[in-house]
Amino acid sequence: MARRVVPIAAAGRPRPATLPALPTLSLYVHVPWCLRKCPYCDFNSHEARDGIPEQAYLAALIADLEQSLPAVWGRPVTSVFIGGGTPSLMSAETVDALLAAVRARLTLLPGAEITLEANPGTAEAGRFADYRSAGVNRLSLGVQSFNPRHLAALGRIHDAGEARRAVELALEHFDNVNLDLMYALPGQTLEEARADIREAAALGTPHLSAYHLTLEPNTAFHRAPPPLPDADLAARMQDAVEETLAWHGYGHYEVSAFARPGEECRHNLNYWLFGDYLGIGAGAHGKLSTPDGIRRESRPRQPRAYLRAAESGQAAEAAQAVAAADLPFEFMMNALRLTAGVPARLFSERTGLALAAIAPQLAAARARGLLEESAERLAPSALGRRFLNDLLQLFLPDGRSMHS
Ligand SMILES: C[S@@+](CC[C@H](N)C(=O)[O-])C[C@H]1O[C@@H](n2cnc3c(N)ncnc32)[C@H](O)[C@@H]1O
Ligand code: SF4
Repeated sequence: MARRVVPIAAAGRPRPATLPALPTLSLYVHVPWCLRKCPYCDFNSHEARDGIPEQAYLAALIADLEQSLPAVWGRPVTSVFIGGGTPSLMSAETVDALLAAVRARLTLLPGAEITLEANPGTAEAGRFADYRSAGVNRLSLGVQSFNPRHLAALGRIHDAGEARRAVELALEHFDNVNLDLMYALPGQTLEEARADIREAAALGTPHLSAYHLTLEPNTAFHRAPPPLPDADLAARMQDAVEETLAWHGYGHYEVSAFARPGEECRHNLNYWLFGDYLGIGAGAHGKLSTPDGIRRESRPRQPRAYLRAAESGQAAEAAQAVAAADLPFEFMMNALRLTAGVPARLFSERTGLALAAIAPQLAAARARGLLEESAERLAPSALGRRFLNDLLQLFLPDGRSMHS
């Protein structure tokens, strides 16, 4: 689709944001190590050739949390997500100690969703029962594919049998399990993508994430691209994913996320609803609202630099205020990922800007059929979901493009 940028300046300069109320707060904990770096992955993950410094990292996370407390004082936390990297490289004892430290310092709401990302390798699967005892109540398994050829091409450390057993074991211990799958894999046919998604659906996890494999800068796949399905074939795979999961009773509630009714990931929903999150751990990002506006925080990416910073009381690098002109795009980039969109009033509640500040952009999006015609909701149309980048482009500040 052709791009047309509607400058926010057309509605007058957005004034600095003042928020009517603070949004929901969640906690993200990053674990920056993996046994082996996958060739497609640009997450902050480093190969742990000689094991991970578990105790030192736990101490750094607790120090980081303590240094962050003044920024979130008195605010209840609705969910915790321990992501990576491969958090399941940590022992259940360490996860237990981490969650105890979180509970001692933050008010975790009763029934808070606590997710841990795990690799289906056997060593980690043996720990599932103990993670549950430690208080984790949702497990997210990176399966990616059940096809041995594709697992090998993706450089995965587990085989299809291990993936199946890990899912079955996870379902024994957790009510809530997510399975990550990718499609449009090197050399993948439509039938192979269908077989993967059918097998995933048949395993019956309450939640499924199906990602279109993307070539990310700074990855081995980007440096030496494998032969990938063309856009047309990838779109047919996406249709197959959506049809199969709909048939199995999963709701498609976000670009890549599918869930049985009521099993949507509350932690990720908080991101998409432009809620607040504290991010601790190497390379973790945070977004926090204050009476003066919204600020973003980050932590050093390199594990060693992070450990040093946390130890010296400087875990958070300089926080940055989000400029009012950037807020419409930042809000929409999250909210419009949701199939049903969000209530229109959420825009003002979360950004502190009047909806009128983006009236020209909303009108342009509706005129192009990218946004639903509704005064109550901001929701992408079917066309807008298909051309999400074109829709988001409309909310960029004057003169910027999605690729700049
Ligand atoms: C932080 S990673 C994974 C958790 C765990 N380390 C694992 O790989 O099993 C979260 C998910 O993002 C997806 N992912 C990672 N890189 C991707 C890429 N380049 N394109 C699409 N999906 C990707 C994978 O499905 C992966 O399971
Ligand atoms: S995809 Fe997962 S296992 Fe592979 S390098 Fe990235 S974070 Fe590690």
